Amino acid sequence: MGKSYRIGVIPGDGTGPEVVAEGIKALKALSKRWGMDFQFHQFSVGGEQYLKTGILLPDTMLKDLKSMDAIYLGAIGHPDVKPGILEREILLKMRFELDLYINLRPVVLYPGVETPLKGKGVEEIDFVVVRENTEGLYAGGGGVFKKGTPDEVAIQESVNTRKGVERCVRYAFDLCRERGKKKRLTLCGKSNVLMYEGDLWNRVFEEVHRAYPDIETNAMNVDALCMWLIKNPENFDVIVTNNLFGDIITDIGAIIQGGLGIAAGGNIHPGNTSMFEPMGGSAPKYTGQNKINPMAAIVAAQMMIDHLGEGEGAKVVLAAVKTVLKNHLKSLEAGRMGYGTREVGDLVARYIEEP
Ligand code: IPM
Ligand code: MN
Repeated sequence: MGKSYRIGVIPGDGTGPEVVAEGIKALKALSKRWGMDFQFHQFSVGGEQYLKTGILLPDTMLKDLKSMDAIYLGAIGHPDVKPGILEREILLKMRFELDLYINLRPVVLYPGVETPLKGKGVEEIDFVVVRENTEGLYAGGGGVFKKGTPDEVAIQESVNTRKGVERCVRYAFDLCRERGKKKRLTLCGKSNVLMYEGDLWNRVFEEVHRAYPDIETNAMNVDALCMWLIKNPENFDVIVTNNLFGDIITDIGAIIQGGLGIAAGGNIHPGNTSMFEPMGGSAPKYTGQNKINPMAAIVAAQMMIDHLGEGEGAKVVLAAVKTVLKNHLKSLEAGRMGYGTREVGDLVARYIEEP
């Protein structure tokens, strides 16, 4: 018998529950074959729950989530809830309160998946974005003055702490070394204009670099980096950046690896309860139709067990995902896969049980 893990599951809204079910199917297949045990604890959080009860993410629930080994989230978002409420009161609250200071977003083009980038293939698209996940413009600093008058002032402040920047940069250097690929870490900022935060990031980056002489580094402004990601994705190995720039460039990452049907991420506090999610939203128009692609959610589950220390199991899940992408799926788009949501999950589970 392998280790036992308590997983807090937040299926959430729209197609969230459908894709999470397939990720759980993959984990159950893994436990059958490899003996580790997963206990799934469901949490009702999301727009649906909010509209019904007025409850978002109470502190008691946060405490219960904190007691889990990891959190697995489907999607949060509802067309009838005003934009901003669910984001701030659930998703960002979880990131801040659990201090999930790394947003880890691998960008890998798997065999059999099409990229919109002309002339680029699996050899060229394989990098990871390390996004700072608790500070920057997301911290909510600022305020308004004379609202609704012609003299209105709106200030949005970017918070960058020495501690926050340093732990993020250090994580990125460690990851770059562990990957053992190009061993190149790119700092993405905008230090030609954002002089205060840019200066802090630059100095910390240089200082931390001293302990990693084996890693080659460069620094790029975010606008230029957006161009180079499209033109020469093969130049990147690990990119480290602040919260907002990370949010933006990982959407570029998602689309060049085939789109939201495959892109997943981890919200991580090393050594503590961390949260894993597919990058796509709740896709309300596909809800309940068995059409949405569950691969991103399965990859999120794979990242989760890797994070929990089940590296071998994670490899088995990834191999199954790759086989299904290469040999079965016609497209990553909802309704065009050639299979239904559940059938894709069945295929992955089958390759996990019989690699
Ligand atoms: C993401 C999302 C969130 C973010 C939104 C939903 C608040 O876009 O995880 O990238 O901006 O971080
Ligand atoms: Mn985003």
